[in-house]
Amino acid sequence: MFSVTPQSAAPSEQVQTLKTYEGELTMTIRCFSGVALILATVFVVSCGDSGEDPTKDPARVAAGQQTFRYETFGDETKWTDTLQMQTVISTAVDPTTALSVGLKVDATALPAAVVQGIQDGSVDLTSPATTIALLKLDAVVGIKGTVTTGADGTDTLTRVGITCALCHSNVDNSFAHGIGARLDGQPNLDLNPGAIIALSPVLTADQKAVFNSWGPGKYDPRYNLDGQNGPSVIPPAYGLNGIHAITVTGDGSDIQYWNRYVAVTQMGGHGTFTESRTGVSVTNGPDDLVSDKLPDLQTYQLTLAAPPPPAGSFNPDAAARGKLVFDGQGKCASCHSGPLFTDADSKLHDPSEVVSEPEPNGAPSYASRSATKKYRTAPLAGVWQHAPYFHNGSAATLDDVVATYNSKKSLGLTDAEAADLVQYLKSL
Ligand code: HEC
Ligand code: HEC
Repeated sequence: MFSVTPQSAAPSEQVQTLKTYEGELTMTIRCFSGVALILATVFVVSCGDSGEDPTKDPARVAAGQQTFRYETFGDETKWTDTLQMQTVISTAVDPTTALSVGLKVDATALPAAVVQGIQDGSVDLTSPATTIALLKLDAVVGIKGTVTTGADGTDTLTRVGITCALCHSNVDNSFAHGIGARLDGQPNLDLNPGAIIALSPVLTADQKAVFNSWGPGKYDPRYNLDGQNGPSVIPPAYGLNGIHAITVTGDGSDIQYWNRYVAVTQMGGHGTFTESRTGVSVTNGPDDLVSDKLPDLQTYQLTLAAPPPPAGSFNPDAAARGKLVFDGQGKCASCHSGPLFTDADSKLHDPSEVVSEPEPNGAPSYASRSATKKYRTAPLAGVWQHAPYFHNGSAATLDDVVATYNSKKSLGLTDAEAADLVQYLKSL
């Protein structure tokens, strides 16, 4: 089960270690669950009754964008007080290193003098002090730093936390690779979250081995709770308007459900998440810095549309033939149905129907670790944009996806039909 981490302990000991990692941050307060449920109901009722589409309210969208990009929900408690990442960044993470683990820089946050300095080489990209300067400018996507300036003018990074944008935003590389304007909703598949977390000095060698096993573009959002190691590809946060089965296993009926899960149980934000189906119950901090931000955050996410395919990126004639394969012999449309290419709102699928299991590296079924134990048919708009495919990244390209279906579902597609189907997928 833990073949990727040969020297790790037996499963029962592993869970023990993990409890240590979450440490005092996490405690179980079951009596809160009833309150959370009542609050959730009130939200649903108040949103449902208003009859107004919040995505048409610019103030709410702007507030949600602010949360998505810059809000830590108080998770500095985890990233600073527990994981000591401010020390790691201050001593070891120069901008070149930061870019190499997939961190992105928001070029629009850089003053002209800094842009000039990067261009003419007078800004030192091999000095951690430059990273601190970038954090002071709020220019590192998804990382929020508090920088204090001493009497002698020296900047010190005192607090650091993470935001949703760390994993779910990219940049357009307009300035240089990894430096450009923000593209919210696009997954950062260059980011190596495991390698970044593994830099923390407080983790054991076994924990570091697990984090280092994930690789770029992947993160396991359940490992710290169930001790199993089977990372998921970071998915897009766009194209979800109209889909009421959130996450690859459809755990939540709206985006807010999962936003709360991640903000509390993964980012370490202050608040509560409780789920009776998995037994997960986490409360961080004495206060709730999450709940009141969730409605606008969701509103912003609902405005994020899947990006259209770039001009010239597919062959329209082949794509038209591929649509016939998708609807016909490929039987794709039996699950990838309707305008969003998914039957998610009416059903979920048993792992036995889904071609992406068994998991790589002997990991346990991802569905088995979820609330539903099933998979949601993936929506396909913008699928050209976010390789690798399937929750575990087991298909590197859309050609691999089609080849996998062709063999596992015995579709009997010819090479030409398979190629046309790939062109169709690239057009969505
Ligand atoms: C460390 C990386 C990371 C961070 C930070 C992160 N996510 Fe995610 N997110 C993931 C991964 C991995 C998944 C896939 C989980 C799954 O499907 O089971 C995911 C899934 C999602 C989904 C489900 C998408 C779908 O197709 O249904 C949404 C929505 C989402 N995240 C929003 C957020 C928001 C909002 C935040 C901030 C509160 C956030 N994420 C922070 C990694 C991250
Ligand atoms: C039985 C229902 C079903 C059928 C039939 C089906 N799919 Fe899927 N598809 C799924 C599910 C469920 C997933 C998510 C699996 C995962 O993430 O591991 C998925 C995932 C995908 C993905 C990956 C999307 C992503 O975001 O990574 C692509 C592409 C895809 N399917 C294309 C097709 C094509 C092409 C066909 C026809 C040859 C097809 N599917 C037939 C249910 C189905």
